[in-house]
Amino acid sequence: MNRVLITGASSGIGLQLAQDYLFEGWQVVACGRSHDKLAQVLSGERVEYGVFDINDRDAAAGALSEVAPVDLAILNAGTCEYVNDAHAFDAELFERVVQANLIGTGNCVAAVLPRIKTGGRLALVSSSVTFVPLTRAEAYGASKAGVDYLARTLAVDLNAARVAVSLIRPGFVDTPLTRKNDFPMPGRVSPEQASRAIRRGLARGRSEITFPTGFIATLRLLSWLPHGLWLSLARRMKKEQA
Ligand SMILES: NC(=O)c1ccc[n+]([C@@H]2O[C@H](COP(=O)([O-])OP(=O)(O)OC[C@H]3O[C@@H](n4cnc5c(N)ncnc54)[C@H](OP(=O)(O)O)[C@@H]3O)[C@@H](O)[C@H]2O)c1
Repeated sequence: MNRVLITGASSGIGLQLAQDYLFEGWQVVACGRSHDKLAQVLSGERVEYGVFDINDRDAAAGALSEVAPVDLAILNAGTCEYVNDAHAFDAELFERVVQANLIGTGNCVAAVLPRIKTGGRLALVSSSVTFVPLTRAEAYGASKAGVDYLARTLAVDLNAARVAVSLIRPGFVDTPLTRKNDFPMPGRVSPEQASRAIRRGLARGRSEITFPTGFIATLRLLSWLPHGLWLSLARRMKKEQA
């Protein structure tokens, strides 16, 4: 029976992935900070729990040290906070977000790699925010740009026959993380749609998984604009949001 480990399995994209893999007959190692929260949303014979804060390297290593080998590990846990005023740059907020999304993901990579079966796959969840510099996303975008680079270098340095690597860059998904956003979210998809796109990409062995198609195509086009042109466009979008 296939086994998948998912961080951030208590909510949003991670929860939907866990539910869908269970439905497909997989065994799921569901990770989050609270056993009770995980147990409320995921239970049954094929569910195990990994309870730790990804910011705590020792806790991550300890919680996963006894986990039986998995075919797939999806490092999805993360957070998002936006910078309110770049002139009064909030370094604490910046540290919080980079710590969880980048350093926390590094802690999980170290803890989970020895638990992935030979021929298995490691997937890192980044974001489509890294296509272009978006207003107020200094912390979130920088943390996810780090995750992009981490995944791409791991793909170079890990023996692909031992562990293959996938980078996942979703557009907007309707989860508790985005429900607090106070701006329009073009192309927002449901967690079910996100899970389908991710599972299909992973099953096909894709090294990079992006969705939804139309929104990603627009971001790709915008990323090809000369920087000056993008700057004036982004500033206009910022004014419209204000
Ligand atoms: N939603 C989107 O539009 C979107 C778009 C692109 C990328 N993403 C990325 O997708 C991932 C999942 O996001 P989501 O929208 O599903 O968010 P969500 O509903 O808020 O879920 C976040 C998950 O991460 C876990 N988590 C957060 N901080 C943690 C920590 N310090 N230690 C352990 N677990 C922690 C949470 O667990 P607890 O229950 O313990 O809080 C929760 O299970 C994130 O990496 C996010 O950046 C989301």
